[in-house]
Amino acid sequence: MAKAWVNSGERLGADLHLELPGSGGKRAALIAALRDAVRAGRLAPGTRLPPYRSLAADLGLARNTVADAYAELVAEGWLTAVQGSGTRVAERAEPLKPVRTPKKAPGAPKPAYNLRQGQPDATSFPRTEWLAAARRALNVAPHDAFGPGDPRGRPELREALAQYLARARGVRTSPERIVVCSGVAHALRLLFPAVLPGPLAVESYGLAFHRSIFAAAGVRTIPLALDEHGARVEDLDVPAVLLTPAHQFPTGGPLHHDRRTAVAGHVRATGGVLVEDDYDGEFRYDRKPVGAVQGLDPEHVVYAGSVSKSLSPAVRLGWLVLPGHLVDPVLAVKGEREAWAGVLGQLTLAEFLASGGYDRHIRRIRQHYRRRRDRLVTALAERAPHVTPTGIAAGLHAVLRLPPGTENTALKAAAWQGLALDGLAAFRHPDSTMSTMDGLVVGYAAPPEHAYPAALDALCRALPPA
Ligand SMILES: Cc1ncc(COP(=O)(O)O)c(C=O)c1O
Repeated sequence: MAKAWVNSGERLGADLHLELPGSGGKRAALIAALRDAVRAGRLAPGTRLPPYRSLAADLGLARNTVADAYAELVAEGWLTAVQGSGTRVAERAEPLKPVRTPKKAPGAPKPAYNLRQGQPDATSFPRTEWLAAARRALNVAPHDAFGPGDPRGRPELREALAQYLARARGVRTSPERIVVCSGVAHALRLLFPAVLPGPLAVESYGLAFHRSIFAAAGVRTIPLALDEHGARVEDLDVPAVLLTPAHQFPTGGPLHHDRRTAVAGHVRATGGVLVEDDYDGEFRYDRKPVGAVQGLDPEHVVYAGSVSKSLSPAVRLGWLVLPGHLVDPVLAVKGEREAWAGVLGQLTLAEFLASGGYDRHIRRIRQHYRRRRDRLVTALAERAPHVTPTGIAAGLHAVLRLPPGTENTALKAAAWQGLALDGLAAFRHPDSTMSTMDGLVVGYAAPPEHAYPAALDALCRALPPA
């Protein structure tokens, strides 16, 4: 490695320490070293650089190499060359200001165990099968797939989704009524407020993140009470409603079939819309999953889903199945070109669906999560028989109802055990008037296999005594 202190005294005004790697192109190395020195502020704007000959001698380089490097940096705008006054660092080559990152408050250490809901088992992502699908999809994709994206999404994906959702979820649709998006959160942002202005009835317990989306969109939400049959849709007094009918999030019950019919009747009678969030519809362990409410009335139900639970929330692919009259308004919000869902992911998912890889993955992962849930139930039966999961055997989380007033204590005890998880209070709509429910929301999918027994152990230790 060539190193040199280039002390050019008044010419440079400062000592310049340049390090060039011993191998590789000398010219490129010198350019990189000078760029670094300017970027880091070691060479301030206006500083005059040493003449070619002296820098070449100091670094053991040919004079032309230095001349070339200066010329390149002049062309890039880092340096300026002025006839008769040599080469100087350009005035506008400002060093980057460091980004201030907020100081983390000293506090609780990172929890040792994670049973927070919302995360699938990241170690179970089907890497090999996904990669094979990506390769096949890329091999046959037409050239136009790599042009500007259609805001409806790739036709291959909409075709595959139409077939899959009809077969697996009882959705009645055609590819023309499907709009690809980056997930349910994106779907809600597309719909509200431009397509559906609100107010919007929502379940009293739901995802706070979704409530924040509505608040940011200026859409008022009205909480519907929940009981053992799901949301009390008979209390609906606005035309638009968002529900999680297959598996109420987070409390865990399905919407009773009378209420499914009632909510479909309500949106039909009022000219309203049900937005059906089918976030984990594929994961039912005690029976075949109940089909989507959308099948009852495709003209008044917007069906939204994504791969966030079935594959990974990082893939960022989802879909909206729309009533015919809402397709154009949603596309108008999306704009002329696809800006959210990348074509590589879309083509891969289309191939994964069409080849049966997605079904195989779902069958495999469903067994995995079913076993996870069974192990939770067994651990509770053995060590805390007074606590049982409520709701149906489905999804990636279970709710453990607790006696009134004990949720906070249990959460503190969990934190003491190094266990991260949420209580039901975190999901409650601030305006809800239904009686408070105490409980823990246990995401049994999240921990990697080796960590699950210890996480269950910590959970059982955190639960209040009988
Ligand atoms: C109720 C609910 N809906 C939808 C989703 C999926 O959201 P997205 O598709 O934006 O990742 C989640 C979380 O994964 C959820 O908890």
